[in-house]
Amino acid sequence: MDTLTVDERNLAYDVVGQGPAVLCIHGFPLCRKLWAPVAARLADRYRFVMPDLRGMGESQVSDETSMASYADDLTAILDHVGERGPVTVMGLSMGGYIAFEFVRRHSTRIRALILADTRAEADSPEKARSRLEQAERVLLEGTDFLIDALLPQLFSPKTPEAVVKEWSAIMRATDPRGVAAALKAMAARPDSTATLAGINAPALVIVGQDDVLTPPWASQLMFEGIAGAKLTTIQDAGHMTPVEDPDAFVRAVAEFFEEIRG
Ligand code: MLT
Repeated sequence: MDTLTVDERNLAYDVVGQGPAVLCIHGFPLCRKLWAPVAARLADRYRFVMPDLRGMGESQVSDETSMASYADDLTAILDHVGERGPVTVMGLSMGGYIAFEFVRRHSTRIRALILADTRAEADSPEKARSRLEQAERVLLEGTDFLIDALLPQLFSPKTPEAVVKEWSAIMRATDPRGVAAALKAMAARPDSTATLAGINAPALVIVGQDDVLTPPWASQLMFEGIAGAKLTTIQDAGHMTPVEDPDAFVRAVAEFFEEIRG
């Protein structure tokens, strides 16, 4: 693990492999380990840059953040590891929301886009309100109530118990201030539907067939909105496709990379 200080906070990241770079943006409230099974299988051909977002994993927390400031943290890390040209940006769920911000703020740095188990739409007013209430409660009580509610929605019923347990522990170890800041940032995020038509880079949309948080219909809308996009649906997987079925996830990513090569 390496760290880079950005805006007075130490941000943790791993860089694994050699080849064209892939920036990997995890979801909420997860960490860079989400990408370990993917990096392990493709490190002989690609260079995976895997940060912990501010306030999650081993990165220090800021009380306030936004999709834009997460995206700027990531460009600072890319600069630091020598990736100043276009890279593949791969985001899962909240990582996808950040990827859309990346498209708006740093489009020249995108070689290709992988949007996994995410959605382009902003929160409804009710959803945003409930996130803000959750953020306040997390700061008072800790995250257990939130993780207890989230956990059953993250995985397909077919996912091995050991995987569910591992991620439960990771989520419960996340700093409540990082969780609260992310909840507020997600509630405030803009709608990205109009961003889809402006995406010129090759794009792959991946979704677990059993994803109830960002369901297949949301992926279908992204697929239809991005010219020339590809869509892969992974059977027997929920919202956490890279760890639920790493082989299928890697197959989709490797095929996409082969198609866009050259
Ligand atoms: C995530 O997995 O990043 C979150 O569940 C996304 C969300 O709550 O909208």
